[in-house]
Amino acid sequence: MGSKILVAYATLSGSTTQVAQAIGETLGQEGTQVDVHQIKEVGDISLYDAVVVGGPLIMGWHREAVRFVKKHQGVLSQMPVAYFITALNLTQTSQESIHEVPIYCDPYLPKPPQNPGKLSLRERYATPSNYLSPVLKKTPKVKPVSVAFFGGTLVYTELNFLHMLFVMLIIGARPGDFRDWEAIRAWGTSLRSALAEKA
Ligand SMILES: Cc1cc2nc3c(=O)[nH]c(=O)nc-3n(C[C@H](O)[C@H](O)[C@H](O)COP(=O)(O)O)c2cc1C
Repeated sequence: MGSKILVAYATLSGSTTQVAQAIGETLGQEGTQVDVHQIKEVGDISLYDAVVVGGPLIMGWHREAVRFVKKHQGVLSQMPVAYFITALNLTQTSQESIHEVPIYCDPYLPKPPQNPGKLSLRERYATPSNYLSPVLKKTPKVKPVSVAFFGGTLVYTELNFLHMLFVMLIIGARPGDFRDWEAIRAWGTSLRSALAEKA
């Protein structure tokens, strides 16, 4: 694996920060230097050997994460890259990859659809493909070695009124902390070899 890795993340309410830090700690265990920074603080990424980009779903992947990948797509297409996404609502599908990009799901996050033959509007909205395809299409040269979906956190009192309405009506999520540290660290561990193979 490269000797210097950047974990760059976006957040709305703050809970993705600890997810990024846990991934950074896992990646850093074999003497690799890992910098974990909020996307706003990141400058030149060409100093790194690999980059992990993360952020929550906020009506699609957090726009700072998408903008970051778009802005740096030239450099990111030349190095090993992985994405992680925190979420509250994911529909279970049999897909293991999207546009040839392998996906990993926290085992507690995906919910089986009520009728697998005919997904409801909400279930279709929450498929990994519906969330991820627009990002992969906007930045076709960047091919992540893996994209992980992890459970996130919802605290209604941290949200403004419109955000609260969206989460209640469209996402239908219940409040709580659904971060699964075991799944997060397992993915971080698997990423060490996946990034090294691509380097
Ligand atoms: C306005 C808003 C929109 C959201 N949209 C989605 C969504 O489309 N799908 C989903 O699974 N979760 C959605 N969520 C849940 C967030 O992804 C989840 O709460 C995440 O853990 C927040 O991370 P943060 O604390 O780092 O901001 C949304 C949350 C908010 C506030």
